[in-house]
Amino acid sequence: MAPEAAYVPIIDFGRLNEGREQRSMVIKEIGNACSRLGFFQIVNHGICQSILGGALSTAFDFFKLPSEEKMKFMSGDVHRPVRYSTSLKDGIDEIQFWRVILKHYAHPLDHWIDFWPKNPPNYRENMGKYCTEERKLALELMSAITESLGLGPKYLVNKMDEGMQVMAVNCYPPCPQPDISLGLPPHSDYTCLTIVLQSSPGLEILDTEDGSWKMVPKMQSSLQVHVGDHLEVLSNGRYKSVVHRAILNRGSTRISLASLHSLGMDEKMETAKELVDEKNPKGYKESSFRDFLNFLSKNDLAEGKSFIDTLKIKN
Ligand code: OGA
Ligand code: NI
Repeated sequence: MAPEAAYVPIIDFGRLNEGREQRSMVIKEIGNACSRLGFFQIVNHGICQSILGGALSTAFDFFKLPSEEKMKFMSGDVHRPVRYSTSLKDGIDEIQFWRVILKHYAHPLDHWIDFWPKNPPNYRENMGKYCTEERKLALELMSAITESLGLGPKYLVNKMDEGMQVMAVNCYPPCPQPDISLGLPPHSDYTCLTIVLQSSPGLEILDTEDGSWKMVPKMQSSLQVHVGDHLEVLSNGRYKSVVHRAILNRGSTRISLASLHSLGMDEKMETAKELVDEKNPKGYKESSFRDFLNFLSKNDLAEGKSFIDTLKIKN
């Protein structure tokens, strides 16, 4: 049975730069989406279709390469800046996870791009363009988001400028038993925010009202934005990171590109003191991207342990 489609707020990003009145309306829409749902989609974001399509198609080509070529990047060490890994397993009698992933750092681009795959030959160029555009968008989005929290548009600008961008290139091959398997188990992202582009539907969002999973509908050229754990921390829980998962299908390979944006490796994300008062005591401990990696190296996502839970202060 096909799951119900999620209600997805669509934000016209171009309006952010169309004068004060338009901007403040869009900021309100973004704030509402972040506090009610933890996700939204943006249209009119300025990234042209050829860059989106180019990134998806070079990702498809990468996963079609012979396995020796991909194995060069294979590593179980979550601290590696470029890493290929696979969770495909043989037995098909229990719930399991079918995903192949290439993960690499993407900012500053000129620092990392030489470590990226050389094959397919257009990988660096196509993915590089896409990552650069995504990052610009993420910085503008973060400005809008801090503004929506009443902290002003510049609140995190310097720290985001020095921040990290990790590109997760996910590949979900056709699965013979999609009903008893998952592509990616339920999780929230550690990030401030994540921008997702998917080649076909498969991304699902947990509806916290009734506990059901809702499908994120096919997006033409819109991009899906997720509130991550570090934004939940910053906002003192006004914005909640969204729990999502990826499901599989029998027929065709699905690719998704998740662009993960956070502060620098050792920069601690703290709750904004402006959002703490007697009625709203500080609810979270500070943490960095490195703290998340250390958590990840000791915990398996599939076991359902979540990073954000380790940060919550019991008041
Ligand atoms: C992720 C993620 C969703 C997808 O990489 O964190 O949530 O559809 N991906 O692959
Ligand atoms: Ni995710």
